[in-house]
Amino acid sequence: MNMKKIFPALMAFFVMSGHLAAEEKNISIATADTELILRVGNDGRLYQAYLGDRLQNAGEAAQVPWNLYPSPEAPNGKPGCEAYSTAGTQEFFQPAMSLTHADGNPATYLYYVSSEQQPVNGGTETVIRLRDDQYPVNVTLYYRAYHEENVIQAWTEISHDEKRPVTLTDYASCMLYFNEPAYYLTEFSGDWANEAQQSSQQLQFGKKVIDTRLGSRAAMHVSPFFEVGLGQPVAEQQGRVLMGTLGWTGNFRFTFEVDNLGNLRVISGINPSASAYRLKAGEVFRTPEFIFTLSSQGTSQGSRNLHRWALRHQVKDGTKPRMSLLNNWENTYFSFNEDKLKSLIREAKDLGVDLFLLDDGWFGNKHPRNGDNAGLGDWEANREKLPGGIGALTRAARETGVKFGIWIEPEMVNPKSELFEKHPEWVIHQPNRKPYYYRNQLVLDLSNPKVQDYVYSVVENILRENPEVAFFKWDCNSPITNAYSPYLKEEQQQLYVDYVRGLYRVLERIRTNYPDTPMMLCAGGGGRCDYGALKYFTEFWASDNTDPIERLYIQWGFSQFFPAKTICAHVTNWNRSTSVKFRTDVASMCKLGFDIGLQSLSPDERAFCRTAVANWHRLQPVILDGTQYRLVSPYESAHMAVNYVNEEGTHAVLFAYDIQPRFNDRAGRVKLQGLRPDRNYRVEEINLMPQRKPTLPEHGRTFSGDYLMKVGLDVLTGGKAVSHVVEIKAV
Ligand code: DGJ
Repeated sequence: MNMKKIFPALMAFFVMSGHLAAEEKNISIATADTELILRVGNDGRLYQAYLGDRLQNAGEAAQVPWNLYPSPEAPNGKPGCEAYSTAGTQEFFQPAMSLTHADGNPATYLYYVSSEQQPVNGGTETVIRLRDDQYPVNVTLYYRAYHEENVIQAWTEISHDEKRPVTLTDYASCMLYFNEPAYYLTEFSGDWANEAQQSSQQLQFGKKVIDTRLGSRAAMHVSPFFEVGLGQPVAEQQGRVLMGTLGWTGNFRFTFEVDNLGNLRVISGINPSASAYRLKAGEVFRTPEFIFTLSSQGTSQGSRNLHRWALRHQVKDGTKPRMSLLNNWENTYFSFNEDKLKSLIREAKDLGVDLFLLDDGWFGNKHPRNGDNAGLGDWEANREKLPGGIGALTRAARETGVKFGIWIEPEMVNPKSELFEKHPEWVIHQPNRKPYYYRNQLVLDLSNPKVQDYVYSVVENILRENPEVAFFKWDCNSPITNAYSPYLKEEQQQLYVDYVRGLYRVLERIRTNYPDTPMMLCAGGGGRCDYGALKYFTEFWASDNTDPIERLYIQWGFSQFFPAKTICAHVTNWNRSTSVKFRTDVASMCKLGFDIGLQSLSPDERAFCRTAVANWHRLQPVILDGTQYRLVSPYESAHMAVNYVNEEGTHAVLFAYDIQPRFNDRAGRVKLQGLRPDRNYRVEEINLMPQRKPTLPEHGRTFSGDYLMKVGLDVLTGGKAVSHVVEIKAV
């Protein structure tokens, strides 16, 4: 029997029998507060019936009418909007998937086959299988709903059994619809040293696309996350908002398209530009996860949903403590030696931080890393600067009583390096053109398994030779330039996708073999800040811009999607017109570090820093493990304030900053959130410079949670670059 000939007929039979049997069927994907209902129509296709606040009566899912998201093709075509629409059908707007079959046919029609639900990783996973009725193409939709956290993760798998490869030109992770009188998009754009700057616009008919094509990282000019205000502009404390982000450390694309009937479709996934993927028979194309939450109480609640989900279910060591640190980068740049580093290790101890972090510049012998133009790729300690190797430093750290961490950038190479001399074929570059260098370096070809082994070996060798290395800062300073993979040959269009997959393979190996080694994610500032990478990293560097005023905005932006525990914030010498106290207070509301020559500080400033470090350690359970409430936005005032509350509601910290208030600024009092109204709390201003008296009028007094949340504290002074840190403890 010729199976190839009868296959399409068999498929048609199965699919047809499937949708003949399955009249209408509703599949509910629900968290405590949110519900997504997908519906199999009596044509056998899958539609979105509902997305919004959770319906309280399960039986009423079937009552939801078809026209919540009316189909632009009705009445002759589809009854609603398809959950994962495909090109070549009656689709007039942007589809989730475009696939060209082996015979050149560009149309795919997906029909419901089966679905199931089961508990996975603390959530409920819904798996929905769809299949084309004429071609052996399978699409499986995954939705993992986290009940308590109100977060849903969605991704897709595409596979086929055609005779030759099919070509995927669109392959979204997820597609969602809304139908509201108006939509307002908030995006987080910027640049190096200007990351995650918030701006908003109303969406009108047509498309707004946010995408990047940097290859080795998700972000630089725009971050991989967004907010959509449903019916009203995005607001902090009220209103319905969709907050979404893609867990992918490479090119991403969010498409927001409003159609003729006012439906908004939000399509999220890898940016398929220059990445038409030829998928072989039997191969499974798995998209990255789109992660979203729907809040009906503004972004403040949405952020708390994401923070809790991230720490419980996604970020490496999400529930473990973090180490404060002293970094040498801005203090020494490339110019240091063993003695200098040993003295910094002693400074770290004196400051009271957990770890000393040695940054760039410690490696390369034939081509010493004395600047950014040489040595990348040659991960051997420079004998002139460090005659005792890394071992002498880890020993010194142990004897001094701090831990030791080290910077690496293992995906990159300087043309001036032994690695490049030995393995030019491991490097992404075009054979017939003059290379374009970004920071004098090129990107290694992580689509090549040999390169993956090599990148893994950078970490393995360091840890084998120096088992006391307790932390890595993993940098990535260049986007992919000169995009051509010597390894992929005629499959060049797979480079962007295969690069990230290769990176994940390496990171997976590291996490498996060194599960207890924390790592900071960094990409020339905040270029890598995504939940794909954060499965392997404990924290990320938000920006090279550590001017505390700028940081108030940058940290505000990242805090929309990432918990304080993951956002590294260091005290440096950027903007010396601000006090060391102000700089430290800004860094203390995230994962605290220092990158400053402590000898340049006055004895009082050093004493202050020691106290602030001790306070931060003591308050970690509140700041890093507690719940965050953003209270005053720097985008809406000349101030910023945020408070954190521990899980029991018995301990809180308020951070309040005056930026540059105008004459007669009326900032008002700051009302706290998240306290227990019936408990009494003692209010104490902390992080004070030596000999300075608290200026907070309420310092030392006791108030009920009710009072603190309704009347608030007089904590905004109207001064320029003034900060207050207030500890609020139940008595
Ligand atoms: C860029 C990072 O953002 C900096 O913190 C520092 O590690 C440098 N790279 C080192 O080259």
